Parts: sequence; structure tokens; C-alpha cells
Amino acid sequence: MIYQIYPRSFQDSNGDGIGDLNGITSRLDYLKNLGVNVIWLSPHFDSPNADNGYDIRDYRKVMKEFGTMADFDRMLAGIKKRHMRLIIDLVVNHTSDEHMWFQESRKSRISPYRDYYIWRDGNPNPNAPHGFDPPNNYPSYFSGLAWQWDELTKQFYLHLFAVKQPDLNWENPKVRQEVYSLMRFWLDKGVDGFRMDVIPLISKIPGLPDLTPEQLKDPSKVWANGPRRDEFLQEMNREVLSKYDDMSVGEAIGIGLSETHDIVGEDRHELSEIFNFDAARIGGMGGYEYRSLELPALKAIYDRHAKVLGKQDWDTSFLGNHDMSRVVSRWGDTSTPDFRELSAKLLQTMVLTLKGTAYLYQGDELGMTNYPWTKISEFNDIEVQNRFKSDVAAGKLTEQQLISGAAAYGRDNARTPMQWDTTKNAGFSIGDHTWEPVNPNYRQINAASQIADPNSVYHFTRQMIALRHSNPAFVYGDYQDLDPLQEHVFVYTRTLGDSKFLVVLNFSKQQVEYTLPQTLKAGKLRLGNYGTGGDNAGASTLHLRPWEARVYQQ
Ligand code: NOJ
Repeated sequence: MIYQIYPRSFQDSNGDGIGDLNGITSRLDYLKNLGVNVIWLSPHFDSPNADNGYDIRDYRKVMKEFGTMADFDRMLAGIKKRHMRLIIDLVVNHTSDEHMWFQESRKSRISPYRDYYIWRDGNPNPNAPHGFDPPNNYPSYFSGLAWQWDELTKQFYLHLFAVKQPDLNWENPKVRQEVYSLMRFWLDKGVDGFRMDVIPLISKIPGLPDLTPEQLKDPSKVWANGPRRDEFLQEMNREVLSKYDDMSVGEAIGIGLSETHDIVGEDRHELSEIFNFDAARIGGMGGYEYRSLELPALKAIYDRHAKVLGKQDWDTSFLGNHDMSRVVSRWGDTSTPDFRELSAKLLQTMVLTLKGTAYLYQGDELGMTNYPWTKISEFNDIEVQNRFKSDVAAGKLTEQQLISGAAAYGRDNARTPMQWDTTKNAGFSIGDHTWEPVNPNYRQINAASQIADPNSVYHFTRQMIALRHSNPAFVYGDYQDLDPLQEHVFVYTRTLGDSKFLVVLNFSKQQVEYTLPQTLKAGKLRLGNYGTGGDNAGASTLHLRPWEARVYQQ
């Protein structure tokens, strides 16, 4: 069970309003008690923070707001002492434009670092701002085109993300060796592996042709399938990963289920596992448009995973991260405190009873919610700020439309400070100002109150994790969806040898009288989000209460 920490928002130890490594160290017992095996730490490296650390200036230094290398070492020792492990974020599709390599690269066309990045001539056009149009029509994930003109050498460089995140040129073997060397630096220190940021994008399409109108609808699909992707990952595996006792999880933006085996298949020698976003992002990547959850569509995704992935293709189960709105606000029900707690527990039940490695994002174990944003100036995220500049200024969206979209789906929602207790700033910081606002609901939703309440989301999550840990059927067992078209109830079994579990999830605020298919009868209730009440063992018709989740051992 892997728990993601977004260090900026986890725990501030020195009152500057920004979370830090000593803050994390002070909370390790909390994570151990929850049942966490592995911590995934979002970037902790030196960075000018155009994209909160996903723009790295120096891969071998700790971000100064987060502390020092000695703090890192202490944190790592604390993690190991508690028999947990640590994976860190490897962001090597791009660097910061303040990285020494890019500073050197931009100096001249003959700089030894020129080919560390992707520089191209523009297409002459006397009416264009600098006399040139960009080399192709690639859009950036953060609005506008993915090319930036550099006046000094009169060429454009590629940045699939922000202007301050130039893409590295993986065709250059020196770049690859630099990456392998920095990976060894951290592995030699004792970290246990990496979460790899947008890793399928490293191999670019030869000649960088324009995307067709069809491809422009989802450029990630094209960019993720560059011809040298697997060759690069196999080289990385051969030179680095295979030499350590480590794990790797790729953020597999653009990768479909049919390509998953190529990256995670045991015979492929690339990565241990990937995040496939089909489920968590059902209804679309990016974009802030409203998308309600259609349960049969979600079930169909998990069903496909079970059918397409082979025994040697390891899967992941997750619903949130630092790039998504809070899962309980997105898919659960925050209309009343009871429904919020019940639906948070139900969603946790699903994540923790599906196959593969399960991931929780910080605060989800408390049922933390989206923040009540009302003004553009409250949002920190470069994605929102750039959309404001490009879409609102261009009249594609009104300010109000952007605010409601970003309030519902924006990334800042996941980045508000952890809610630890009822003291100032929810116990996150003793400072007067926090980098991102604290959700005002921290008096009702916080770790201290939930630890004191045996019926809380926290304790339910802890129990669900413990159940998963003691029953390998949840991790390895076969998955079978018993009623794929049922619109409100998700019911599936997980079976490993003699060990069989039946999971029943009422994804609605209605009471549902549900008769189990295939003359099945409920076994022994091992965990339920209404406590132990409800139907007795042996029942074949279940009276499911709003947002009820039950796990039966058959
Ligand atoms: C994916 C990361 O998860 C996201 O936070 C970041 O903005 C982009 N990659 C660019 O690094």
C-alpha cells in the first residue's frame, strides 16, 4: 500500500507556511499506524517552483524550503526504521529552464549542451512575431503552443508543459547517462525506487511532424508511443533498475491497456507498474468540463483490466493524486457529513479491494474535500493561471466558467494543507500564512478528531488496509464482476485458491434492495461502513443503505 505525500502541503515544521521534510519525519508514526508500506514523495529537489517542483533545477539538491540533505537522510532513516520504504519522483522528460544544462544549452548553437534539449528552426513567416512560426503545431499541456522562441540563438525549444519546463532530448546518449547517474545517486543513498513523471513521453516522434486534427484531440496518445520508448526504458532498467532492490511506477499518460504489457510485463524488463488513468480520469483527461460517474462504464474498465492484463502484468489501483480534485468531492457525496464519510469509506473500500498495488493520496484517509474556491487569485496552479491567460483573455471561457471548472476539477484541490487537528492552520503550520489556503472545514475534518473516533474514515481506512494486508486475495486474486450493467451497485469477487471475498458497493444515496446474482449468498461480513449491522450471513437479498460498502468473506 503506497501513500503519496505532496511535501509542500503535508506538514510544515518551521512556520514558513510550506511543508517540509522535518514535518514528514514528525508524522512517520501516523503513516506506520495507518498501515502504509511505501511512501511516494512528490518532488523534493531544488526548483524555482514554476510547477511546484516538477521543474527541477538541481537533481542532487533538496529544495531549500523543504530542508537540507541531512533532513532528507534523517527522514529516510526514520522510514527504514519503521520498516517502510520510500520512492521518489523522477522528473526527466523535462527540467527547469534554470537547470545548468539548459542555461548552457541556450547560450549558443554550438554549446556542448545544445543537444540536451530539443531546439528547432521556425518556419519563416514575415508576419509572425519574430519572423517565424513555431516548428509544428504541438500544444502544451499548460495552454498555448509547446514551443518557445529564444531570441539569443533564434531558435525555438520544445516544452510540452510550461515554458519553464524544456523537454530533454533523450535521443542524446549523454542525456540518458546523466539521468542514470542521478538515479544511482538517490538509489545509493537508500531510496527504494521511483515514480516516473510522464515517462512515456521521453521518446519523441522522429521529424516532429504536425499532429493531425484527429490526433490533436488527444496528443498524449501519439506522444506516449514514440518509437524508442521501450528501448530507452529497457536501457534504464539494464543500467540502473536491475542493479538495485527497487520498484518503479510510471505515470503512463497516453498509454492504453493494450500497450501496458509492453512496459510492465515481467519479460519486458522495463518498469514494475504504471498508472493507467482510464478509471481515475473516466470521462476525459484535463479539461474542467462536468463529468458524472457512470458506474457501468467504470466497471467495464476494471473488467477490461482483468481480461487484458496477464498474470505477469502488474496493475495499480488508485483514484486520486496531486493532479486531481479530491475523490470524495468528485465521485462521492459531500451533501451531508454522514454521506461524505460513508462515500469516502466506500471509495476506499473499492481502491483497497482491487488488484495490484493500491495507492492513497494524502488526506484521502480522512475524506478531505475540495476547497470552496471563489476567486481566480486564490488558485496557485500554473494550469489554472495559464488557462486564465489563454482562454478567458481570448473569450473562450468566462472568468466564472473557469472558476467553477477549476473549483470542481482543478489540481489545487488536492494541494491544500493536510488537516491534522483543530488548532491554527489545521496543525499544518504555526505560520501566519500558508502557501495554499487551509480548507475551512478542518474543524470537522481532521486527523486528531478521527483518530479519537473509532467510526471515522481514518479508522475504517486503517482497518481496510489491515484486511488487505492479511489477505493476499485482495492483492493477487482473480477479479470477477458479478453484475456489470447494474447502475448503482458494484459487486465483485476476489478469489485466490480457497480464499474468496465478495465486495458490495452501493454507489448511491438511495436505499437499494439488491438480490445477489448466481444464487450467491453473503458470507461473513469482514468490514462494512455501517459497522457490523445490516444483513446477516447467508442472506441472498441485501438491504443496502445509502453509500453502503460491505466486504464479505465467502
Ligand atoms: C505530471 C505531474 O504529476 C504534474 O503535477 C506535472 O505538472 C506534470 N507531470 C509535469 O511535470
